[in-house]
Amino acid sequence: MSPFPLLLLSLLSSLHVSLSGPVATEFIYPNFTASYFHYVDTNGVFLTSRNGFFQASMFNPMAQQSSFYLSLLHTHTATVLWSGNRNKPTSDSGFVSLTAAGLSVLDQNGTVLWSTPKLSAPVEAARLLDTGNLQLLDKSNSSLWQSFEHPTDTFVSSQLLPAGSYLSSSVNDTNLAEGDYRLSVSTSDARLAWIGQDYWRLSNDVRSIKDSSQPVLGMVVNTTGLYLLASDSTIVFAVSLTQSAFRVVKLGSDGRLTIKSYTSVNSSSPISGDFIAPSNDCDLPYICRSLGLCAISGNSSTCTCPPLFTTATNRSCLPGDGSTLASSVSCTTTDSTMSVSYLSLTNEIGYFSIKYMPATTSGPDISMCRSLCSNNCTCTGYFYDNSSMSCYLLEKNPLGTVFSSSSSSGQNAIGYVKTYVGSVPPSNPTSSSSSSHTVAIILPVIAAALLVTAILYILFVRWKKKEKKKAIGKSKPSPKNIHLGQHKSSSRDSGYTDQEEDSTDDVIIPGLPTRFTYEELEAITENFQTKIGAGGFGSVYKGELPDNSLVAVKKIEGVGVHGRKEFCTEIAVIGNIRHINLVRLRGFCAQGSKRLLVYEYMNRGSLDRPLFSHVGPVLEWGERVEIALGAARGLAYLHSGCERKIVHCDVKPENILLADGGQVKISDFGLAKLMAPEQSALFTTMRGTRGYLAPEWLTNTAISDRADVYSFGMVLLELVRGRKNRSETSADNRPTQSDFSDNSSQTQIEYFPTLALEKHEQRRYIDLADPRLQGRVTDEEVGKMVRIALSCLHEEPALRPNMASVIRMIEGSLEAWEPMVKSLNFLRMYGRGFAERPEPENGLGFSPNFNGGSWTGTSSSTANVSWSPSHLSSQQLSGPR
Ligand SMILES: *[C@@H]1O[C@H](CO)[C@@H](O)[C@H](O)[C@H]1NC(C)=O
Ligand SMILES: *[C@@H]1O[C@H](CO)[C@@H](O)[C@H](O)[C@H]1NC(C)=O
Ligand SMILES: *[C@@H]1O[C@H](CO)[C@@H](O)[C@H](O)[C@H]1NC(C)=O
Ligand SMILES: *[C@@H]1O[C@H](CO)[C@@H](O)[C@H](O)[C@H]1NC(C)=O
Ligand SMILES: *[C@@H]1O[C@H](CO)[C@@H](O)[C@H](O)[C@H]1NC(C)=O
Ligand SMILES: *[C@@H]1O[C@H](CO)[C@@H](O)[C@H](O)[C@H]1NC(C)=O
Ligand SMILES: *[C@@H]1O[C@H](CO)[C@@H](O)[C@H](O)[C@H]1NC(C)=O
Ligand SMILES: *[C@@H]1O[C@H](CO)[C@@H](O)[C@H](O)[C@H]1NC(C)=O
Ligand SMILES: *[C@@H]1O[C@H](CO)[C@@H](O)[C@H](O)[C@H]1NC(C)=O
Ligand SMILES: *[C@@H]1O[C@H](CO)[C@@H](O)[C@H](O)[C@H]1NC(C)=O
Repeated sequence: MSPFPLLLLSLLSSLHVSLSGPVATEFIYPNFTASYFHYVDTNGVFLTSRNGFFQASMFNPMAQQSSFYLSLLHTHTATVLWSGNRNKPTSDSGFVSLTAAGLSVLDQNGTVLWSTPKLSAPVEAARLLDTGNLQLLDKSNSSLWQSFEHPTDTFVSSQLLPAGSYLSSSVNDTNLAEGDYRLSVSTSDARLAWIGQDYWRLSNDVRSIKDSSQPVLGMVVNTTGLYLLASDSTIVFAVSLTQSAFRVVKLGSDGRLTIKSYTSVNSSSPISGDFIAPSNDCDLPYICRSLGLCAISGNSSTCTCPPLFTTATNRSCLPGDGSTLASSVSCTTTDSTMSVSYLSLTNEIGYFSIKYMPATTSGPDISMCRSLCSNNCTCTGYFYDNSSMSCYLLEKNPLGTVFSSSSSSGQNAIGYVKTYVGSVPPSNPTSSSSSSHTVAIILPVIAAALLVTAILYILFVRWKKKEKKKAIGKSKPSPKNIHLGQHKSSSRDSGYTDQEEDSTDDVIIPGLPTRFTYEELEAITENFQTKIGAGGFGSVYKGELPDNSLVAVKKIEGVGVHGRKEFCTEIAVIGNIRHINLVRLRGFCAQGSKRLLVYEYMNRGSLDRPLFSHVGPVLEWGERVEIALGAARGLAYLHSGCERKIVHCDVKPENILLADGGQVKISDFGLAKLMAPEQSALFTTMRGTRGYLAPEWLTNTAISDRADVYSFGMVLLELVRGRKNRSETSADNRPTQSDFSDNSSQTQIEYFPTLALEKHEQRRYIDLADPRLQGRVTDEEVGKMVRIALSCLHEEPALRPNMASVIRMIEGSLEAWEPMVKSLNFLRMYGRGFAERPEPENGLGFSPNFNGGSWTGTSSSTANVSWSPSHLSSQQLSGPR
């Protein structure tokens, strides 16, 4: 062996030894450099936190050996939590450098690819904390810069994502550069957007609960859940998650926001039940690429193309007629040789951003919507909603995935995709080897296009003027409108159809649900054949829509109603309230003086049936808890989840509907505002049903959401007992169904809330449980529910918990409050009052002219009860107009 290679060998090995330094723990100090090549033995890791659960590394995602990133990793899962040079990867000999000036990443020739900004003091050390935060420290150990304040696509427990900041996804698993999706936190919400178009909002997610309306400081995750917090740590939004010590919130390269939860920071696999948003694959904006049609099948999704479209080689969908999508044409290359055409998507096809987009305009005529789109080169298509007459223009952005929506999903808008036909593809204009006869074709086309544009422009200008006039008319409701309404009902008699009436009608409100004619509803309900219920507002009938889905049609009768326009305004509000625990309004009819509401059908009927009737299976304790939770969530959403606070005013078992699959939904919300103002006195007597009415209804105190909390407390007690709170016990101790229907002295009248209060004082809760449960519930379980119920019944509204706290108490993430007996003593008086002189049943028994008198059996302070509606503005009932 010649000495030369030997020398080289020893040189190389000594080089290797000197280069692959030991992995530092917690601190590195200036004049430190590291490259993947130096640390190949540790796979690029050059620094670990003291606890070893986090690492800093020159990381090589998916081991592709070409792109290296300065990254912080979660050791046990190799999850990238942060990366410095995400947009400029380096090679295996590119390196990270820590100097007094800061941290930077350089390529092998020493060119800086990324660095921390200019710092206010020289760096003394870099420290990787046990939370996964990398800090640059000055002489006094205070932080000059930290990775937690510059998140990339991930944040973890103990990190705050401040309002105004965002996470942005990576392009894919190997390329960590910024992709197209963002999770941004604002002072009021958190949202996911794809190239500027929203596709998810925390406030719209059924898993979130809104607690307050304070401005948001930022988003955090901790052991109990995900929160948006205000500056004083008040919870604004909360999502409860299973208890776990460490969580990683990551915005994936596919646009999914995933929360992975670990029992401890050193576990390597997440506990199941991940939070994923959006929860439905087809709500992802690009899962089937451009114009692909996403459909849910089983627990996954499939991609096809909509009718009239064909699959392109890149898996996007292109017009089947060979025309060019407007979205793939740059506005600078369009010219008048191309004529605009539209391909219609069917009414079963929805688009993700319509849900979050305000309507561009609304008008009775779809052609206006189309001409707006045709006249604007940046418009790539539009959706028009027949029932609300709303027009949504899609602009500038590329077109994403469309989804298959049954009519029950609530998107009624039909989409039209803009294309250009009759011309060479504009993407390569040079290829237009113009022969003489193409010119012969093109010239007339140009002329025609110019003409069409001119006509459309004139139409547009005229329409704009009309719109302006309308806007002026709308801002000042004049007596003319009322006159119009009267005129309309008489015009119907003179042979006009309702359709014609509508087209000349001012009632154009974005977001209206489907409008039915009375005749249609007659057909749907087979002439109102099957009556399934009757409530304060009228009778309810079963019906079947043409798409075979069942509905409940409520005929509002016997009470004065607003004029059509006011009615429609309210319907638009109610119709836009979507929550899994609220019965959905699917449509309405406002024809002449007829007012009908079409609701989704709940096949198991209202809660009073299984709870109070003694036929059929007993509701098990677990089911009762689920029902309580569902109802509470629905109410919490009404109180704080929607734009305007809605107080239900009539929470009772009859208004809690059940359906197969454990569905629990609140019905009849928002109806308060359908009443004409002069009806509100009647309303107070009609609505709040006796036995569930909060004491403040009898005084001049303002009605707030806590009135619903009181009623809910009453319902909770009924869930515990399995019968009405005010019920008769006949001699054989079997409750009868109708309470207070007769006043015979043979029956003993029991007021259950008083009994519950007494048993609470004795701490003997099990006596309160429904005897039909025969011991299948523990004293502890009943006690918790009774304590929650009693706290809801506190006489002073301010001492009652809000619905969000009630939810947490039932779930167990919040200790049940200790009821304040002092604030519950009024129940004993109620009890005595009821025992002595039973009242008429609910408002249906009242005379509509009832407008004064005292409510016996209540505390004496309310002896002089006024039924004046003055203390009950319609605002308090469902928020400002
Ligand atoms: C780091 O290197 C610079 C220039 O090479 C030198 O001036 C400085 O003293 C060094 N610092 C330390 C802490 O070694
Ligand atoms: C860096 O060096 C490599 C090889 O030495 C060379 O190919 C490359 O062009 C250089 N890059 C820059 C940006 O100077
Ligand atoms: C900074 O922190 C390190 C490690 O905790 C400690 O040894 C050092 O004394 C601290 N320096 C100052 C100025 O506090
Ligand atoms: C990631 O994206 C880059 C382009 O940005 C592409 O070249 C690469 O093939 C992608 N990798 C995977 C695994 O899809
Ligand atoms: C998690 O954070 C929320 C909001 O600040 C707080 O209410 C809750 O108590 C925290 N959970 C724990 C276990 O600290
Ligand atoms: C995780 O850490 C805890 C203490 O922090 C330790 O008891 C446990 O053994 C560790 N588990 C693993 C898998 O390292
Ligand atoms: C859901 O998908 C998984 C595979 O991802 C499959 O194993 C499972 O059977 C599916 N479940 C249902 C109910 O389809
Ligand atoms: C797919 O290919 C078509 C042409 O074949 C092109 O117009 C379109 O922009 C491509 N879409 C994507 C997302 O690459
Ligand atoms: C086209 O639409 C864009 C985006 O809404 C708007 O800014 C622009 O003014 C419109 N152009 C015309 C001519 O209406
Ligand atoms: C929209 O209205 C037109 C005219 O009234 C009607 O022909 C069409 O079927 C409606 N479309 C839907 C989806 O209701």
